[in-house]
Amino acid sequence: MRKKIVAGNWKMNKTADEGLALVSEVTNMINAEVTGDVTAVLCPPALYLTTYKSYLTGDKLALGAQNCHEKASGAYTGEISAAMLKSVGVQYVILGHSERRQYFDETNAQLAEKVNIALENGLTPIFCCGESQDLRENGDYVGFVKNQLTESLFHLSAEQMANIVIAYEPIWAIGTGLTASAGQAQDMHYELRQHLASKYGDEVAQDTSILYGGSCNAQNAEEIFAQPDVDGGLIGGASLKSRDFVTIVKARQ
Ligand code: G3P
Repeated sequence: MRKKIVAGNWKMNKTADEGLALVSEVTNMINAEVTGDVTAVLCPPALYLTTYKSYLTGDKLALGAQNCHEKASGAYTGEISAAMLKSVGVQYVILGHSERRQYFDETNAQLAEKVNIALENGLTPIFCCGESQDLRENGDYVGFVKNQLTESLFHLSAEQMANIVIAYEPIWAIGTGLTASAGQAQDMHYELRQHLASKYGDEVAQDTSILYGGSCNAQNAEEIFAQPDVDGGLIGGASLKSRDFVTIVKARQ
């Protein structure tokens, strides 16, 4: 079933007091104001996941992590496993964010392992894909993004694919204020859904939620979410402001 999802990726932001204020405001506002069929996934820094779980009351809110390691456990200083996330009530995990691909050299093959262990532990991966500005302007950016799915997801069975959420995040739109137009978002989402259909058939393709991320904000969310193949958003900067994030969630309901 294609779920409507708006996930807030806080990235490396908010001290303990600032985060508590934000999660309190956001959860209270969503429970008071959101009446439609949408799930708001809060993805704070891992340090706060255990604490925030108790704030996520009602059926509109879920807890997400920003990453997990591809191994089950062991000598990986500083890392967090999928099993650890599951044990504290985390439901979603962002995987393959372009910043992790850039700063931590995450590869498609490594991400396939992360997807596997997340699924094995009952987590829902939010699998990120997207092209650079250079590729958008000078290359086969559609083929590049399709290949990210092929190399990291297409080993999965149709049953496993049913538990994957995809987030298309054009790198040139992340944190830049250069949002992809609604048409650009729709065009790529359509291509990705067709790519899923080529592997898994129309039913799985139509049931897969594909989120848009990249300078999505309270002003442009409604137009982007109105596109037929856009099922929600993965929100960075705007998720750090309670009213803006809740406005975006309401734009999806
Ligand atoms: O994961 C979402 C993020 O990459 C988008 O960031 O600040 O452009 O909404 P932002």
